[in-house]
Amino acid sequence: MKAVVINSYGGNDVVEIGDMPVPSPRAGEILVRVRAAGVNPVDWKIRKGELRILTRMKFPKILGYECAGEVADTGGRVTKFLKGAHVMASTGFRLGAFAEYVCVPDISVFQKPVNISFEEAASVSVAGITAYKALRKKGNISPGSKVLINGASGGVGTFAVQIAKIFGAEVTAVCGPANIDLVKNIGADHVIDYTLEDFTKSGAQYDIIFDAVSKRCFCECRKALAPRGVYINTLPGFSILMHQLMTSVLPGKKAVSVMMFPKEEDMKWLKSQIEQGRLKVVMDRVFPLEQAKEALALSESGHAKGKIALKIA
Ligand SMILES: NC(=O)c1ccc[n+]([C@@H]2O[C@H](COP(=O)([O-])OP(=O)(O)OC[C@H]3O[C@@H](n4cnc5c(N)ncnc54)[C@H](OP(=O)(O)O)[C@@H]3O)[C@@H](O)[C@H]2O)c1
Repeated sequence: MKAVVINSYGGNDVVEIGDMPVPSPRAGEILVRVRAAGVNPVDWKIRKGELRILTRMKFPKILGYECAGEVADTGGRVTKFLKGAHVMASTGFRLGAFAEYVCVPDISVFQKPVNISFEEAASVSVAGITAYKALRKKGNISPGSKVLINGASGGVGTFAVQIAKIFGAEVTAVCGPANIDLVKNIGADHVIDYTLEDFTKSGAQYDIIFDAVSKRCFCECRKALAPRGVYINTLPGFSILMHQLMTSVLPGKKAVSVMMFPKEEDMKWLKSQIEQGRLKVVMDRVFPLEQAKEALALSESGHAKGKIALKIA
């Protein structure tokens, strides 16, 4: 099968389109015939070796963290789907989604929403779950919450703006000048252009500051948080973990980090919002598998508008 392969960590020059054996599903696994794969910042971070503590040194590696397609085969004990079912799947650090076939544990395979394309469905599990988990589980969002989303025009941010509106929040989106219309169109009540205004210094306060692109630290955001407000970022590191620890034992403003892991109930919630037309997958560009390097380069530029996907015919 055709696959996007690396034989060492490095820049985009280590990325090759290779011929790899079709994997066989073991007990508890589903073989997905991949029709599209979502491209995320985690993919080029893995390619660079930044996450090698999790991805180890075994090569060749097929890149890719999430996909959508059809169930081609199932291993023993799998009763969740029949062959031919349309699904979305998250491979996580097992990787392998940038290929014509991938084996995924059945707990990480979910029914695809009926009203969207495979490219859109392939782009839900990483960014959609991160935004949902941040706002719902970490931020305890509720109707009337004042929410600021930094990086509102990116993959996670475009989900976050819409999810916050679904929960009845008042949403301030922070983005660059080229993306103001985009974030207004998906429901932002207020927009701050980060090239003109620093939201941490405006005097406004928010119940939730979700830094979807992790560009501002808790210390910078503290003043812009309401007395019981919560700051959430997407890059767990030493600083945020220390703040998380300290603020967890003190009353008042909190700092937390979100880690995505798609659970059945959360993916069902996203699917239902998509099928009701309340949540759209905002797509930037879809590339053919052969242009995986270009897709990774666009993601690595840090200026994607919504999601990037690979189409796998
Ligand atoms: N913890 C987890 O489980 C988890 C899950 C998913 C993602 N993440 C991480 O979350 C981060 C965001 O992911 P993503 O998929 O949303 O990335 P993305 O799609 O690449 O984000 C791109 C967007 O960020 C905006 N941006 C860049 N610099 C900005 C700034 N200084 N202020 C405000 N916006 C800015 C860009 O807008 P302009 O073009 O206007 O600058 C662009 O629209 C990544 O670091 C990713 O690795 C973590």
